[in-house]
Amino acid sequence: MAADPRSATAVAHANIALVKYWGKRDAGLVLPWTGSLSMTLDAFSTRTTVHLDADEDRVRIDGVPVTGEQYRRVVAFLDLVRAMAGRSGKAGKARVDSWNTVPTGAGLASSASGFAALAVAAAAAHGLDVDPTALSRLARRGSGSASRSVFGGFALWHAGHDDASSYAEPVPSPGFAPAMVIAMVDTGHKSVSSREAMRRTVETSPLYRPWVDSAAEDLAGMLAAVTRGDLDAVGEIAERNALGMHATMLAARPAVRYLSPATVAVLDSVLELRRAGVSAYATMDAGPNVKILCYPEDAGRVAGAASAASAHCSTVVAGLGPSAHLVGRP
Ligand code: PMV
Repeated sequence: MAADPRSATAVAHANIALVKYWGKRDAGLVLPWTGSLSMTLDAFSTRTTVHLDADEDRVRIDGVPVTGEQYRRVVAFLDLVRAMAGRSGKAGKARVDSWNTVPTGAGLASSASGFAALAVAAAAAHGLDVDPTALSRLARRGSGSASRSVFGGFALWHAGHDDASSYAEPVPSPGFAPAMVIAMVDTGHKSVSSREAMRRTVETSPLYRPWVDSAAEDLAGMLAAVTRGDLDAVGEIAERNALGMHATMLAARPAVRYLSPATVAVLDSVLELRRAGVSAYATMDAGPNVKILCYPEDAGRVAGAASAASAHCSTVVAGLGPSAHLVGRP
């Protein structure tokens, strides 16, 4: 069969969860145990081009051919899109070229921007007419957090109970535009993938169920706080929710510990800032890096405090980012 000449390029931005997704109840469909709420950033993005002109799927990230498990994961995702488009066999094999402005595998949400960009580009290359909800559901299948990067600003991922009901949607927050200082203490590849860490936590941690139970209250509180633009309430809930998530992992068997001495030093600097009257609140994902929520006018001071706290800490100040979108032809 003749190769399909279509191609599309999309850009998506990373998001940081303020109420976390941690644990799947259905690994195949990527259905989470809890709903989550995030902020999409204007820093850290992925730009992905999909060309439907290949004999077999070829995937490059930052110019390097992808192999092994990472390759299989992208191919499984492309298979989903091909199934949606009614293509099978050699039809619709893709060349995927992805460029990140975010370090991959360091708990900096590269899989969120990556699979959101791939969902938008692959759907367009296949000529699929999909609305943002369908794109969110599709992106979710690549990486749970990617369901939220389909949207700009704040996004709520409904846990749902099946494929159709588990998707993200934007949360309106008129006039609320906090800053997020990304304090990077280590951008190396994490030793345990979030996928494995989640699985181990759900299966072995005695603290997992209590965290799930408390997540509903955090989510309701966060939704109300974001909607009314209350930075202190958002920050307090985000910090306790993240620390609780890390507690579940620390209690897993064997323990998963992403937080390093440098993480703790930055957390101390956030506490110090609060004692000095600065509204600054921390959250951490599947890695040692710290993301600090604050008012934009305090971001310089917050970044300075984080850098001073740990010898090799570099900082990026982010604001609210846009939805995933198609860009001009490659
Ligand atoms: O989307 P995944 O499978 O990379 O999981 C992301 C999990 C956290 O970043 C730790 C939390 C979240 O909600 O983004």
